[in-house]
Amino acid sequence: MKSDQGPVVFSTVSDLRDFLASTRSRGKTIGFVPTMGNLHQGHLDLVNKAAEMADVVIVSIFVNPMQFGPHEDFDAYPRTLESDCKALANHPCDAVFSPTVREMYPKGVNTEIDVPSLSTILCGHHRPGHFKGVATVVTKLLNIVQPDVAVFGNKDYQQLQVIRTMVADLLIPVSIVGADTTREPSGLAMSSRNAYLSKEEKDTASMLYATLRTIGAALQKDTQVSTTMKNEKQRLAAAGFVLDYLEIKDAQDLSKSYVEADSAVILVAAKLGKARLIDNLVVELTH
Ligand code: PAF
Repeated sequence: MKSDQGPVVFSTVSDLRDFLASTRSRGKTIGFVPTMGNLHQGHLDLVNKAAEMADVVIVSIFVNPMQFGPHEDFDAYPRTLESDCKALANHPCDAVFSPTVREMYPKGVNTEIDVPSLSTILCGHHRPGHFKGVATVVTKLLNIVQPDVAVFGNKDYQQLQVIRTMVADLLIPVSIVGADTTREPSGLAMSSRNAYLSKEEKDTASMLYATLRTIGAALQKDTQVSTTMKNEKQRLAAAGFVLDYLEIKDAQDLSKSYVEADSAVILVAAKLGKARLIDNLVVELTH
């Protein structure tokens, strides 16, 4: 199945479906990791996690135009299929699905999947249409692969909640698993967009996780939360971040306040130089 050069690569839905049909006929379960490529250790950890839960692992690599706004980085987004396949060769990935835009949207976009209660807040407020693009492409990918389990990073916390809600509402028969964020030793969450950071900016970027931890400590002690938030916002601005948001929400439902919740999630999105970075931290609350 898997050659020495790495996983077998399919670019058409029909070829991938033939491969999956023969895999299923041998009684194998299928794990799926959807990505936009430019793979880093965070993605490879998702692949390892999928392999713990399924016999055969499929990774999709598709830079989805529908989830990028008109002034976002769709054209600049790094496309590195060859090095991605090399990286996957050392990991339990059996096949890569790397379709063209035409293969995924042969007739353009006529049908959209939307989870409005979650798609218009936080990142959705700053990136209108983004989660509609994510939900639509993930529905299409799940329909193509029909995996037993699909693994997504907890780093994209809001995305994961949109996907969980959509899968439950549309009765899609797949188990959605969230995997821990992989971090640099500095605490910086791994992301393909870190490639846009200079060396100096990368050092500064690690402040985001430190901020989340500082606020997390205040939340856990239930003391000085709003002062801490205000101070941290000022510290980030002084370091050169342009903040989209720094907010605390109910971890189970991002559309709700954390005040009555059992667990809270602190979410941040900020621009630093050319990169837009996001991160989050979940905190158990003892009221
Ligand atoms: O998280 C990503 O890389 C993308 O949003 C996803 C889930 C692959 C959909 O394009």
